[in-house]
Amino acid sequence: MLAVVPPPVTVRVPSKINLHLSVGDLREDGYHDLTTVFHALSLTDEVTVYATQEPGIEVSGEGARLVPTDGGNLAMRAVRALADHVGKPDEAERVRVVIRKGIPVAGGMAGGSADAAAALLACSTLWGLDLHRDELAEVAATLGSDVPFALYGGTALGTGRGERLVPVLSRHTFHWVLAFDQRGLSTPKVYGELDRLRESGDPPRVGPPEALLEALASGDPRRLALLLGNDLQAAAVSLRPGLRRTLRAGVSAGALAGVVSGSGPTCAFLCTDGDAALKVAAELAGAGVCRTVRVAHGPVPGARVCDE
Ligand code: C5P
Repeated sequence: MLAVVPPPVTVRVPSKINLHLSVGDLREDGYHDLTTVFHALSLTDEVTVYATQEPGIEVSGEGARLVPTDGGNLAMRAVRALADHVGKPDEAERVRVVIRKGIPVAGGMAGGSADAAAALLACSTLWGLDLHRDELAEVAATLGSDVPFALYGGTALGTGRGERLVPVLSRHTFHWVLAFDQRGLSTPKVYGELDRLRESGDPPRVGPPEALLEALASGDPRRLALLLGNDLQAAAVSLRPGLRRTLRAGVSAGALAGVVSGSGPTCAFLCTDGDAALKVAAELAGAGVCRTVRVAHGPVPGARVCDE
């Protein structure tokens, strides 16, 4: 009898920026306690999983050659983690993962985490498990601090390592310009640099997120712009001093404000509306301060199965 091979499943998954990122002290497990406001953006990756006798991984698109294609790839680890979670570890050996990247690699926009979240949802569908998103999020949290958020999307307050999430009311579509840097930054190195800066001085801290949450609820980009803040920004700028120039150039080009996204080096610029974002993007692209620019809007939903 012929086995029925399930059709491939494609999932589209958003990137994120942190509108607010307050980093607490180093914990004993090597992580830092965070209070952060995640915001999912329309800059996306697509992950397709195939049931196959030739397992493996293929990556194309933005920064593809920088993505590991061995068992260490976070999407591949997600496939294995889900197979283990449902007690069918062998299933992971019969999956091919194809990733089309739009999110920069090591850019502070949680691209690897997004691919892991997409792989979880895609395999849950491929294997007919149809697990609830909350159950996928439990597996996601074992893979990385930013993976659960990529499943839910929207705008959310994150605590713990960033994996404990509560949705946040956000009344407006906000328009962003993203400036990608020439090279990525390693997240552990940026956290380490912040620890070092705090040992030798007192870099400014962003404080509590309440005012920013109110600005989000108001939907007013001008109010939101005044409140964007990221404790990791000083560390990212310390490791990559050119980011200071990039941040200035975005504001000179007409953005309301700029902030380093997560651990960087991508810079995110908030604009008044979509037309302003296109203008800022064009001017920033000509300013020679970054590798490339993209426009995006948020919030957008989390990982979703594509219909076609
Ligand atoms: O959780 P994830 O593997 O994405 O984190 C990558 C690294 O970032 C961690 O190994 C740690 O060095 C740093 N990190 C941290 N505190 C957090 C999240 C990440 O120190 N809350």
